[in-house]
Amino acid sequence: MKNLRVLTGITTSGTPHLGNYVGAIRPAVQASRLDGVQSFYFLADYHALIKVGEPERIQRSTLEIAATWLAAGLDPERVTFYRQSDIPEIPELTWFLTCLTGKGLLNRAHAYKAQVDKNTSAGSDPDSDVTVGLFMYPVLMAADILIFKAHQVPVGRDQIQHIEMARDMAASFNHLYGKHLVLPEAAIEESVATLPGLDGRKMSKSYDNTIALFAGREVLRKQIASMLTDSRKPGEPKATEGSALFEIYRAFASAEETQVLRQAYADGIAWADAKQMLFERIDREIAPMRESYDRLMSQPGQIEDILQAGASKARQIATPFMAELRQVVGLRSLRSTGQAAGRENAATQALASIKQYRESDGKFYFKLLSVGGDVLLQSLGLSSPQEAGALVGRLKQGDISVLQSHAAAFEPLEPSLQPALEQALQALNLAQKSK
Ligand code: TRP
Repeated sequence: MKNLRVLTGITTSGTPHLGNYVGAIRPAVQASRLDGVQSFYFLADYHALIKVGEPERIQRSTLEIAATWLAAGLDPERVTFYRQSDIPEIPELTWFLTCLTGKGLLNRAHAYKAQVDKNTSAGSDPDSDVTVGLFMYPVLMAADILIFKAHQVPVGRDQIQHIEMARDMAASFNHLYGKHLVLPEAAIEESVATLPGLDGRKMSKSYDNTIALFAGREVLRKQIASMLTDSRKPGEPKATEGSALFEIYRAFASAEETQVLRQAYADGIAWADAKQMLFERIDREIAPMRESYDRLMSQPGQIEDILQAGASKARQIATPFMAELRQVVGLRSLRSTGQAAGRENAATQALASIKQYRESDGKFYFKLLSVGGDVLLQSLGLSSPQEAGALVGRLKQGDISVLQSHAAAFEPLEPSLQPALEQALQALNLAQKSK
């Protein structure tokens, strides 16, 4: 079953470098090919606005990052690949979450606290250079995740706190309004390397020590040639321990290839030759992707089309879910205000219904219909009305596990209907509770 939802965002504030490729892009593209996983990857351009006030850079970075992920093999047919700002439900959910998130929770966010600490030690006003956008960063990020009911969020260690905050917000929402949001978990890939940069510190834009991913073969060669090494001469044995060059090589090479370089270090390879080996090894993996990258970069309209298609796929989930959440919090059409008890939730109830009936074979059946009348779930013939009633009762509680525990009672579920079905069950559950 395609049940596990994995989602991650990439802030569109820079140009992808080798560290991004090894640490995030390559593992994500590999993971997106696994069966049983439904992946969501998006360009977090609302987040970029928090740090970047240059419109050209936002646009350029969006293009570069989209082209990079596609060139690295992300298949937009298989995954949902979209731009955050194409999904208006995200800022809408952000507001809902804002209204139930304690200010104290956000006061504890690392990124905000770091800025406050910096200001305090510089003797400035604690909130100097702190926008409300920076402060709200974790809420926007929670909305990104919760709107798609993601189970797992692959992120770097620095983002774990944000995922925990998203869980807290989801739990607060569920506590107040009933169980609608899925509590996400951070997925930290232990085996993925953090790449050192040109100067040996972690490769990061903020240290200005990055190696560009697709800048071209000659730029790659030059950047690698400029890597910091120690002053050991050709012929002198070299230490692999603490060698950034060796670490980067290892992130691209097979175990056997790595062993060859290890031996070469022991045998006193000249740094220039080691750099040449590193360059060739990286270029071997990168060159074919660089070609598609260059092609994509020259056709920005094609990338735009891909992102638009991704947005419409994403909104097939986000739009009905947001409609449900609006109902849930009380942003409702006034037409649904009824005097009779239970009618209050007419609109919610109308999101789904269950029909029970008896066929000429004498057996008892039921089916679950969407508001549009689509059959989301069809039972097989059951021998007693009690049996049918018990299953209907559990479905009305929103209990989706009966689909597994009583699989023999249902026609096989069309996987693409799964999200609509889950949503319908939630609506039924809600209507049930309000009675
Ligand atoms: N904050 C993340 C980062 O800097 C980017 C991001 C935005 C994100 N929204 C997200 C990651 C939602 C995972 C899920 O890396």
